[in-house]
Parts: sequence; C-alpha cells; structure tokens
Amino acid sequence: MAKVIKGIDWETFHKLRGSEKKEYFIRDEKIFHIIMPQQFDRPFLDEICELTSKIRGIAKGNKGIAFLQSLLQGKRAMLYFVQPSTRTFLSFMAACQILGIQCSDVRDTATSSEMKGEWQEDTVRTFSSYVDLIVMRHPQAGFAERIAFLLNQISRPVPVINAGSGKDQHPTQALLDIYTLHRSFENYGGIDGKKIAFVGDLRRGRTVRSLAYLLRNYSDVTLYFVAPPELQLGEDLKEYLREQQVAFEEMDRLEEVIPSVDAVYMTRIQDEYDEAGESKRIDYSAYYFKKEYLKILPPNAIIMHPLPRRDEIPVEIDADKRAMYWRQVRNGMWVRVTLIATIFLKDKDIKEY
Ligand code: NCD
Repeated sequence: MAKVIKGIDWETFHKLRGSEKKEYFIRDEKIFHIIMPQQFDRPFLDEICELTSKIRGIAKGNKGIAFLQSLLQGKRAMLYFVQPSTRTFLSFMAACQILGIQCSDVRDTATSSEMKGEWQEDTVRTFSSYVDLIVMRHPQAGFAERIAFLLNQISRPVPVINAGSGKDQHPTQALLDIYTLHRSFENYGGIDGKKIAFVGDLRRGRTVRSLAYLLRNYSDVTLYFVAPPELQLGEDLKEYLREQQVAFEEMDRLEEVIPSVDAVYMTRIQDEYDEAGESKRIDYSAYYFKKEYLKILPPNAIIMHPLPRRDEIPVEIDADKRAMYWRQVRNGMWVRVTLIATIFLKDKDIKEY
C-alpha cells in the first residue's frame, strides 16, 4: 500500500529543512517525486550513475531499444514548462519516448485556463487526472514542492519532477552534472577529492545551487565560487555548506583558480531576473573562459556549462577534449531516462537485462 502523507499542513511542511522534506518525496521507500537535491544521498547518486551507464549500453542495439520502449508503454506524461527551455524540455520528451511514454505539453500559461484566472494549483491538479507523471518548470521557487505536497493528498497521487524552479533549484540538471563528473573522473579516483570552480552568476543560477547541494555527498571536495561580488552565492547556501563541512572559497579572479582545478563550471548571467537592470552595470567579461586559459587548465580537468551560453565560452573551446558541455546535453537525456524508469520501479528490470 502506498503511504499517503497526511497530517501536516503546507506552512509547517514548507518550513521544514530539505533533509526533513525527503520522506514526503518517497513512497514505499522508493523515490517518487524529484524536487530538490537535499533529498538525495550518496547511494542514490551512485545508483543513478551506474544505471545510466547501463541504459546507454542497452540502447546501443535494436533489441535493447525495443526493451526500453516496452518498459513504460501506456503511461502518459505532462510537460508543464511555463519558463523558456530548450534542452531540459526536449531531453525529458526524448527520455519519455525512449521509455515508451506519451507526452503532452503546456509551454505557456496564455494557452491554459490560468488565463481565465484558474489557480495554478488547480491547473496542475487537472493534469494529474490525465497523466501518470508531471514534469514542471516554473518561475516560482518552491512551486514544484507545493504541487508534490498537494498531490500527495489526493487518492491517485502522480509523481512530480522539478525541471527548474525559479532562481532556486534544478535538481535534474545537477544529477546530469554529477553523471558527467562521474564519467570524466571514473579513471581518476571519482568525484571525491576534486576541486570544482563555479563561475559567473552564482547568486541567481539555479544549476550552480543544485549542484553545490549535491556535492556535499562526496568527500574532500573543494568548491571555488568565482563571481563578481554582486553575484556571489547566496548566504543560505554558504550556511548549508559550512554546516555540511564542505570546503569552499569565494574568489573574484578566474585566472587564479584555473591552474589548480579539476572542473570549471561556467554559467551565463541570469539577467531575466534583474529588478532594475543591475546586470548592465557588471563587467561580466572578467568571467569568460578565455582561449589562453586552455594552456593553464590541467590536462585532465574538464569545462562544464549547463547551457545556454552567451559569450562566456568562445566557440573555439568546443574542439578541446576537456570541453564537456555537449556531453552534458546528451547525458541529460540518459539521466532523465534513468530517473523516470526509477520512479516507475523499472530499475530492477534494467539491471537484470
Ligand atoms: C539552465 C536553466 O534553465 O537553469 N539551463 C538548463 O536547464 N540547462 C541554465 C540557464 O538558463 O542559464
């Protein structure tokens, strides 16, 4: 029997720490909703990496493709993406297709009854009547969490995957980033002990936040936060890292850190969140990965970016074997296959294939 969580109101729930919310995102001891990185532990991350590599192998042959296609046939997913998206949207759609799931989508509230004043909550509740999975990207931080909370109360709960919640979190991007790091360092001692620099708009970039949360699961990692003072990492996350005893340093000069890192995680400026055009006053070019940095970047280090990029990585860098951002794009699809298969309890079938 599925355990339906009742007896806690939204205000109380919302104030809980991420680690305390975790139990509301599982069902029968298995992951059900994917909402925030604080819900994941090291065994889960290791499992996702292993399963993703297994799935990639299975998908290399026609028999394997047909097997994956058969796993979730008859299931339906709703992709509710009311903030712009290219990769996350398409990779979730591709992931569903790989598993035989059919997709519908709403990509603009202007095309839904939200325009008639319908509550957002009722909109998503409506989706849950027609589908078996809701993947959502929403400008409001905490909204995916609220929906997961509400759907837990109904008689036919549907899993929710947070595909980006405002400036706050992007857990599936962080999981694909972990998979990319895992693959890159497989023969170099894994992610433990690595030095990772995050560069750019760290205050408003949700991918950075989510990945930093996940990295607490690895031992002896050192994080460098390289950003203009106005765009440094939020105090809440720094507090979390201190508490989790993750070593980190804030810096503002990129070239200083490059010679000693294992990974550089570049980001674009998130000026869509500007309140008074403040981004225009910042010289962001100091946080571009310049071509000459390739000479000082260690030979086994990698360059990451969640994309979309603007000018922070010139196109010439793409040809360098340390550039991993196009791999991240591809890995994103496979990690999402893994996550959806795991939510629907197909991980065992995949392992046994
Ligand atoms: C990111 C996002 O939407 O947060 N894109 C993505 O999902 N890969 C990064 C960004 O928009 O800058």
